Amino acid sequence: MNRATIRGCGMYVPERVVTNQDLEEMVDTSDEWITSRTGIKERHVVAPDESTSSMAITASQRALDDAGLETKDIDLVIVGTATPDYQFPATACLVQDSLGIEGGAFDLEAGCTSFVYALSIASAYVSSGMYRNVLVVGSESLSRILDWTDRSTCVLFGDGAGAVVVSAGPYSTFDPQFVLGSDGSGGKALCLPAGGSAMPASTETIGDRLHFIRMAGPEVFRFATRVVGDATRQVLDKAGLEIEDIDIFIPHQANTRIIDSAVRRVGIPEDRVFINIDRYGNTSSASIPIALYEARQQGKLKRGDTVVMVGFGAGLTWAAGAIQWGTHVELQRQEVPVQIEVVGVPV
Ligand code: ACO
Repeated sequence: MNRATIRGCGMYVPERVVTNQDLEEMVDTSDEWITSRTGIKERHVVAPDESTSSMAITASQRALDDAGLETKDIDLVIVGTATPDYQFPATACLVQDSLGIEGGAFDLEAGCTSFVYALSIASAYVSSGMYRNVLVVGSESLSRILDWTDRSTCVLFGDGAGAVVVSAGPYSTFDPQFVLGSDGSGGKALCLPAGGSAMPASTETIGDRLHFIRMAGPEVFRFATRVVGDATRQVLDKAGLEIEDIDIFIPHQANTRIIDSAVRRVGIPEDRVFINIDRYGNTSSASIPIALYEARQQGKLKRGDTVVMVGFGAGLTWAAGAIQWGTHVELQRQEVPVQIEVVGVPV
């Protein structure tokens, strides 16, 4: 039985930064309100020539480099996104083509939970032996579906992409586990009403600003504080892990108050919790892989570490995962066969 681990990761965020002060100039808000209610100070926004696929491609190339793999090694690409370049073709196919990967490619849409859902699929494929290396990406251009005149949503989100390569890890000590959940009855709480088959785009839908995110913030907040703690406990039970076994806890970065409340409920020590929402805002499906990358850069992840992550979002959906970190340096060392050179003794 193979055990899936995360072998490498990469990220990309656009160059342009929009600060809370910038937003004060655009809508009736304040740095104090945004910081105290959400923890966000600034976010990145795509340039006109960028898109969800262009960010995904850069993050993916970086993840491949970090994993010490080439495109020919990748068997499957899964892109989690709620802001694909097109309704179809899938953004994953654009990534696959641009990088020259030979293999399957599909998008997965589960709101901000897409990355953890996608990781669960990659993990199952690798653990079953069906695939060796699966590229999992979370990429979002949320600025393109934000109503920049609506202060209740435009201050919350940011753009960016994160990618990981999932491969079997010879050093794993437990089987990766995932808990996936959904409650479609809450779907309207976080929704992009128009542009789908239920309400095709028309002059009226554009005039009514129905192609932008609509969110019942307090409802989503109550839902999130409940499921983040519950899903985390469930995945720990499923994996046979205790709180002390968590080396790093990476929650979806939507709101520091949601994270704080969940962390308190579950009892995870603060120094194990990774938070970077202040610099990126809520990047939806990209938030967890971006956080993974930054945790790695800060030396907070080493081979064999147990990563517990939890996501939640539109659908409504939620998911938690427990998986080990396997860095490519150690993996390569393990994979290179030992060469014994027999040197003849001169007579
Ligand atoms: N600046 C100043 N005031 C504001 C702003 C703003 N940007 N936005 C709202 N307000 C006002 C409201 O109008 C309201 O004023 P009123 O009392 O005069 O009516 C007041 O602030 C309080 O509004 P609430 O919505 O009750 O504020 P709350 O404390 O709930 O915080 C927030 C709002 C931050 C949106 C919170 O509800 C939240 O974080 N919810 C979860 C959102 C989330 O995580 N969404 C992502 C899910 S993942 C995905 O799939 C996309």
